[in-house]
Amino acid sequence: MDVNSINIEDIVKQVLADMTGKAPAAAAAPASAPAAQGGIPKTARVAVLTDLKHFELKEYPIPPLGDDDILVKVEGCGVCGTDAHEFKVDPFGLIPVALGHEGTGEIVAMGKNVKTDTAGKPVKVGDKIVTCMIFKDDPEITMFDLNKKNVGGADVYGLLPDDDIHLNGWFADYIFVRGGSFGSTFFNVSDLDLDSRILIEPCAVLIHAVERAKTTGILKFNSRVAVQGCGPIGLICIAILRTMGIENIVAIDGNEQRLAFAKRMGADNSVNFANFQGIEALTEGVKDAFGGHLADFAFQCTGNPKAHANIYKFIRNGGGLCELGFFINGGDATINPHFDLCSKEINLVGSWVYTLRDYVTTFDFLKRAQAIGLPIKELITHKFPLEQINEALETNLSMKGLKIAIVNK
Ligand SMILES: NC(=O)c1ccc[n+]([C@@H]2O[C@H](COP(=O)([O-])OP(=O)(O)OC[C@H]3O[C@@H](n4cnc5c(N)ncnc54)[C@H](O)[C@@H]3O)[C@@H](O)[C@H]2O)c1
Ligand SMILES: [Zn+2]
Repeated sequence: MDVNSINIEDIVKQVLADMTGKAPAAAAAPASAPAAQGGIPKTARVAVLTDLKHFELKEYPIPPLGDDDILVKVEGCGVCGTDAHEFKVDPFGLIPVALGHEGTGEIVAMGKNVKTDTAGKPVKVGDKIVTCMIFKDDPEITMFDLNKKNVGGADVYGLLPDDDIHLNGWFADYIFVRGGSFGSTFFNVSDLDLDSRILIEPCAVLIHAVERAKTTGILKFNSRVAVQGCGPIGLICIAILRTMGIENIVAIDGNEQRLAFAKRMGADNSVNFANFQGIEALTEGVKDAFGGHLADFAFQCTGNPKAHANIYKFIRNGGGLCELGFFINGGDATINPHFDLCSKEINLVGSWVYTLRDYVTTFDFLKRAQAIGLPIKELITHKFPLEQINEALETNLSMKGLKIAIVNK
């Protein structure tokens, strides 16, 4: 079919459906309109969060493709804590919104000007890609200097305000990657399997955190490293440290199952905080786990302010700390600036999302982690089809499993 022609009938149908406000329930929505010539359908299904805790599968016409645009058939997309937050309270005020930013899929059509990805690697129809940030307002954000400026202010597909294209998130059959001044970035990751590609975005968060940690000059191959919090974020942190050759890692959490997984991901020892009464006892527990030493460096991977306050106690004088657990506001933490920070001369860095460079580093990390036998793909504990997007989000909220993913048929 000619993807450059707009089907008026479909638009009218959509407008009518929107006016009635009664789009079909997610589970009952039909599949995308049948494929025309070339295998590309006229319409695509998009999971739109239309209300709190309520996705609807809406069907939109696939827009005409410009010379710089790419149409991607979605294969899968991870559910992120941010998606769960949007689902529950819509803190960014985006409803109605097409969510899903940890996605990947296959290029099925592209404009004539699209020749390479953001790294300069050639792309063709059939290649598998992931999108990264959208640098709409400030191309300078693409900087590679870790301490100069971070990516705050950049957009991503899956957290964009709704517009007349609608195919803006990866919880969908197709996503429309806009070229030119829109500022999209994307990478050809055809050499990674689907599960690995779904894990790229959360792994990039930790690649960035470790890069930030390295700027302190303290994190070395023989450092004693504490990782507090063993959700997907802490577990990936451990795997990255392990692929760097760091073996002296202690994982801290209150969940035995997660602590056991942390050991399989490369932690040498673990501490269950629930087994200790008070911060002094817990500090002794961490010290014991390091054979009588405090940590040289620590990563804070929980969204719990109390955990932020605790972690200083686990670090030796002159040691380092990377705080990355608060993607969203989790409230205030109380520390004693004299004992915890000043007199110990702690080297503290914060870490927030990632840069383009962290993405390309992530591709190699994923290959290396699997090559040395780390069970990185076991992070994906649940897979749902697009029709069960509401169940997928509920599963995430119920804290069952680790990484929940939507995988298209
Ligand atoms: N910096 C970034 O750019 C960025 C990106 C994504 C997520 N995050 C943040 O990372 C955090 C972790 O994400 P996740 O997906 O792994 O979350 P998660 O909720 O699955 O895991 C958090 C873990 O911390 C443990 N925990 C809670 N309190 C603790 C304590 N006092 N001591 C030790 N462990 C404790 C929990 O048992 C749980 O296993 C979130 O708060 C999220 O906001 C940050
Ligand atoms: Zn995410």
